[in-house]
Amino acid sequence: MKRRALLGALAAATAGADEGPALDALARAKGLRIGSAIGDAVPGSRQRFAFGDAAQRALLARECSLVVCENEMKWQALRPAPGRFDFTRADAIADWATAQGLGLRGHTLLWMPAEWFPAWVGEAAASPAAAEALLLEHVRAVAGRWGRRIGSWDVVNEAVDPATGGLRTNPLAARLGALETVAAAFHAAREAAPHARLAYNDYMGWGAGSRRHRDGVLRLLAALKDRGVPVDVLGLQGHVGTDGQGRALDPAGGHEADWRRFLDEAAAMGLELAITEFDVNDRHLGADPAQRDREVAAIGRAFLDLTLDQRAVRTLVFWGLADPYSWLQAIWPRADGLPKRPLPYDEQGRPKPLRDAVVAALKAMPARSQGAR
Ligand code: G3I
Repeated sequence: MKRRALLGALAAATAGADEGPALDALARAKGLRIGSAIGDAVPGSRQRFAFGDAAQRALLARECSLVVCENEMKWQALRPAPGRFDFTRADAIADWATAQGLGLRGHTLLWMPAEWFPAWVGEAAASPAAAEALLLEHVRAVAGRWGRRIGSWDVVNEAVDPATGGLRTNPLAARLGALETVAAAFHAAREAAPHARLAYNDYMGWGAGSRRHRDGVLRLLAALKDRGVPVDVLGLQGHVGTDGQGRALDPAGGHEADWRRFLDEAAAMGLELAITEFDVNDRHLGADPAQRDREVAAIGRAFLDLTLDQRAVRTLVFWGLADPYSWLQAIWPRADGLPKRPLPYDEQGRPKPLRDAVVAALKAMPARSQGAR
């Protein structure tokens, strides 16, 4: 029995008495795969990161079969200066994942908004030729580094402006054109990692306020497909609970039909779908933890029931497993200043109602035709 399968069986058998089978074991039975992001501590960042916590690493290895680096494979982490790469932190997480028999998702080769590039890129991309050389150098070095260990890449992240539905710009796109930059990244990724499934990843929401964002994403995907650009997956980040501006999102906002239509249109393009960054922002929910946990579970269940009903969804990745390590603790504070409770495990490592809601959604969803990814 392969090491991973043995670990999975052991995990399923030994998962905490009150938790039942591991989430990934439940999901695999229906052709879905479960993962989580994990990040490494960064001096000066207000956010706490889980990779340095052995209990958090063990929790991920028990519940998931897939890992994604929360920040370590981004330009800002990898590229201290022109012509230089620092893979130290990304390698540490990738090597740990491989040692645990876990798969990897790569995140992200090109995070489109200009703010996510190191400051030196603006000056380095001084001409179209320089911009293209910089893009190709980066994608080839990063997408080629971990070979078959990375089964799918977020090649481009958040290229569509939610306010306009148009494409965002950055120092590379200013020289090459936005659509051309996105297309070049995908072609270079296919060449550097021919085995990997290549994803476009974005946070378009399921609420009424995200219609323009969703339509812009569908237009981008259609334009890429029309040009023969190799896009295999649409990544649905799944940061639910509030909209992209941190405003409360009514869980029963009557948007189900729009979201289902969006998923069906993307699947009809032949794309696999993946929930890539699932969490439930409780910023606008009441103070009482037990009541908040119940509401977070209800929102999470509603989103997962609707989204997992689309069989093209083959992956569910949490953006962290335990509340204290969520990125949401460092942004959009609650009016009462209380810590947020967006994830399936609490500050003591105990399972929360959201985990029960995920289990219920996994049991309720239709089985996928082929085996898990
Ligand atoms: O590296 C700097 C450090 O030099 C600086 O001294 C310190 C103080 O400001 O910040 C450090 O960077 C932090 C970085 O995480 C760690 O690599 C930033 O503060 C912090 O804002 C940053 O937040 C991350 C954010 O992306 C921006 O990269 C979050 O942890 C991460 O969860 C979040 O994840 C994104 C996905 O990649 C894309 N989808 C949305 C999602 C949430 O924003």
